[in-house]
Amino acid sequence: MSSSEIILGIDFGTTFSTAAAAINGKFQYALDERGEACIPSVVHFPKVGAPIIGAEADRLRATDPENSIHGIKRVIGQPIDSPQARVLNTSALFHLDGKGGGEVKVKTRQGVLAASEVGSIILRHLKERAQARFGRAIGKAVLTVPVAATPQVHDVMVRMGRMAGLQVIRVIAEPVAGALARGAAGANDSGAPRLIFDFGGGTLDVTVVQRSGQNLRVLAATGDDCLGGDDFDFAFARWVGSRVFASHGVDVTKDAILADAVQRQCEKVKRALSAANEARYHIADAVGTAGRKSPINLQVARVDLRPEWTALVQRAVDVAREAISASGLASDRLSVVSLIGGTAYVPQVREAVTQQLGRPLDVEIDPQTAVARGASLLAVFPQLLT
Ligand SMILES: Nc1ncnc2c1ncn2[C@@H]1O[C@H](COP(=O)(O)OP(=O)(O)OP(=O)(O)O)[C@@H](O)[C@H]1O
Ligand SMILES: [Mg+2]
Repeated sequence: MSSSEIILGIDFGTTFSTAAAAINGKFQYALDERGEACIPSVVHFPKVGAPIIGAEADRLRATDPENSIHGIKRVIGQPIDSPQARVLNTSALFHLDGKGGGEVKVKTRQGVLAASEVGSIILRHLKERAQARFGRAIGKAVLTVPVAATPQVHDVMVRMGRMAGLQVIRVIAEPVAGALARGAAGANDSGAPRLIFDFGGGTLDVTVVQRSGQNLRVLAATGDDCLGGDDFDFAFARWVGSRVFASHGVDVTKDAILADAVQRQCEKVKRALSAANEARYHIADAVGTAGRKSPINLQVARVDLRPEWTALVQRAVDVAREAISASGLASDRLSVVSLIGGTAYVPQVREAVTQQLGRPLDVEIDPQTAVARGASLLAVFPQLLT
């Protein structure tokens, strides 16, 4: 490998995607127009012009949901009658198409596209952002997939990379990449099994991983495909809805645009509450009739949301318990619980995992980029895993 060659590590996520590169011993990222490394996995097909990807596409979901494709990762390589397609079909407002068999397709105003074609648009965007950031042509990547991905899905991911102009040199499981980022293959690793608790936007994946020579073995993997940060936003939105109903007598769910605004604001304030005990929840001109609209203005404290989130947090901890029991190990054999994924920021999640699993918590400043970082490490040090 020439010293100037950059190989990306790409975490193609359900809600956010990230491309990282290990350059001169430092991790660097493809950044979007906001300067963020976690780019919404959303592709919008406008009336004219090229597809729009990321934060702007996500904003356009509110006004043109039929042409704003999100959550496509769930159905990469899957047929229309798969459980994954059913989950996406019930939550999305765009239309899935199963005609001709094979991989699920989506109908957009720019035509019918296979799921992996939509995915390749996201990968190409990450590649282009990376090229702009690093000032070099990039042609190779290490991709990550869910631990449950079949060999067929691996193949589809390789093709998806190729469609995006990337030669996929390796495909590894997300928790393995997460473990690499947390030093599981490094010289300081004890070799004891660890729990990788990856709590994302739409899914939870819990895995027991152990180093075995020059490899990382997955001893057990469990998860919940329908449990993630989105559910925290929904629960928060219900809480906001009940406050607004009490103060204004308005049911926010009756107005699709307002309901969407409420939920987006919940996502923002949820993030603020990971850093502070209290935050202000504000939406201007939210309720009432045109010309006489009043804002939604609430002061929200972590303790207000605690009861709303308890059941979600408990479900997540129960999934972790299942993983430990499936591994056949006593929980005290686990060296640490590595908490990764964006929902790992939520203090209530950290607290419950620590208290209930009783193992030391390995948590970091930037849990949301761990999978991409692990993949980029492997790109530079392929010998980490044989
Ligand atoms: N500071 C924060 N506090 C709380 N939640 C956060 C924070 N930052 C990001 N999140 C949440 O993290 C979630 C996204 O996490 P992540 O990027 O790990 O998911 P993903 O990889 O796209 O999804 P999946 O793993 O399900 O495929 C979103 O629900 C987002 O709101
Ligand atoms: Mg993820």
